[in-house]
Amino acid sequence: MKIVMIGSGYVGLVSGACFADFGHDVVCVDKQESKIVALKRGEIPIFEPGLTDLVRSNAAAGRLSFTTDLAGPVGQADAVFIAVGTPSRRGDGFADLSYVYAATREIAQALSGYTVIVTKSTVPVGTGDEVERIIRELRPDAEFAVVSNPEFLREGAAIEDFKRPDRIVIGAEEERARTIMADVYRPLYLNSAPILNTSRRTAELTKYAANAFLATKITFINEMADLCEQVGANVQDVARGMGLDNRIGNKFLHAGPGYGGSCFPKDTLALIKTAQDHGTPARIVETVAAVNDQRKRAMGRKVVAACGGSVRGKTVAVLGLTFKPNTDDMRDAPSLAIVQALQDGGAAIRAYDPEGMEQAKAVLPAGVTYCADAYDCVAQADAAVIVTEWNIFRALDLDRVKSLMAAPVLLDLRNIYRPEQLRAKGFTYVDVGRGLPPDAPAKAINAA
Ligand SMILES: NC(=O)c1ccc[n+]([C@@H]2O[C@H](COP(=O)([O-])OP(=O)(O)OC[C@H]3O[C@@H](n4cnc5c(N)ncnc54)[C@H](O)[C@@H]3O)[C@@H](O)[C@H]2O)c1
Repeated sequence: MKIVMIGSGYVGLVSGACFADFGHDVVCVDKQESKIVALKRGEIPIFEPGLTDLVRSNAAAGRLSFTTDLAGPVGQADAVFIAVGTPSRRGDGFADLSYVYAATREIAQALSGYTVIVTKSTVPVGTGDEVERIIRELRPDAEFAVVSNPEFLREGAAIEDFKRPDRIVIGAEEERARTIMADVYRPLYLNSAPILNTSRRTAELTKYAANAFLATKITFINEMADLCEQVGANVQDVARGMGLDNRIGNKFLHAGPGYGGSCFPKDTLALIKTAQDHGTPARIVETVAAVNDQRKRAMGRKVVAACGGSVRGKTVAVLGLTFKPNTDDMRDAPSLAIVQALQDGGAAIRAYDPEGMEQAKAVLPAGVTYCADAYDCVAQADAAVIVTEWNIFRALDLDRVKSLMAAPVLLDLRNIYRPEQLRAKGFTYVDVGRGLPPDAPAKAINAA
């Protein structure tokens, strides 16, 4: 199959490289010339485990190429995937579809022969209809079908997710397009990955429903963590007790600083808008988004409380900046709100992230001191906060950390350490929902 990927970001590049690895002939297109120049040299503009090798080997085999020119490859393609960004629109939070529609207009002009146009970007219900309308208007002669094929990969495990997906959702309105999509995914079909054939609108909504549900699960356990702190219960045990029930499952029940990243925050907002526009407000999702939003800044207050009620004139070390480990993606990372809240409270911030420093510098407030490693980061700090659970933070030399810090106050917002271990070493240790807040023991014990 000849495949064109419009947009060579986290989704486009991973999908393009994986399709090439299946044996298809793939051209990845991007508007950003610097990205394409780098990719042609074998340099990968994002951090994603395994991606460099996959891109280089498929490019060397002649199955994967990169260009800024959309027209040439689209004219030859069996399937053109739209994998451009759909960020939240300024002002109302609905998905900004301007990149999708701009790409659609460019694709329309270049179509030649029967082509399947596939929206892989996360797009609100009805976007496929609009993509189809735009193309029909610009090219009444064109032979094409518009299909929805939402992507479910997770950054940090993207290649594995793409090659061994839980399911592939294909929303198509005609058989001919389904047949081409089946050919595109045939290698996975042979691996017996479940393929769910649906209508186009159903596929579009499935992606939002899945993300909103996951965001709800995270937010639910976060609220349980807050309650655990007040009543002296352990949220990890609560989560285990819940998760062993097969109807619930144990994934996404890790209490923490609130969800972030390139998908959940914007997708929950877009779903909320879609539901409101159709007169069926998604009240649970509305609450989830509001609760999560407040939580990130509340984590800043948690640090302030651990520092005795004020961070003015104090130094706080922030360990981990990206929204999760194994990515350099800083989009809507909880660290953004936490750092801002601490700076607002008068703290000086030292920060370190194994992969996300460059991206972080572009989006974190000014005045942050970027450090060479975790130990440099905690030097002379009055408190250290683990915000992202990178593996290297799981195995810190705690004696060294303690000796470097001005005061041994550690906030573990990912619950990666054992409280007894840290307290035995003399740390003031604060986690999320496994013990008691610094000011609560008496209250909790009395309540018990
Ligand atoms: N990142 C994820 O984990 C993930 C997972 C599943 C789905 N998605 C969805 O996939 C879509 C893409 O997300 P992403 O994280 O890969 O975004 P991204 O910002 O990393 O990449 C988008 C790319 O598209 C390019 N682009 C924009 N308009 C273009 C055009 N007209 N022609 C060519 N290139 C163009 C941009 O330059 C950019 O490189 C979004 O809708 C997102 O919600 C993302």
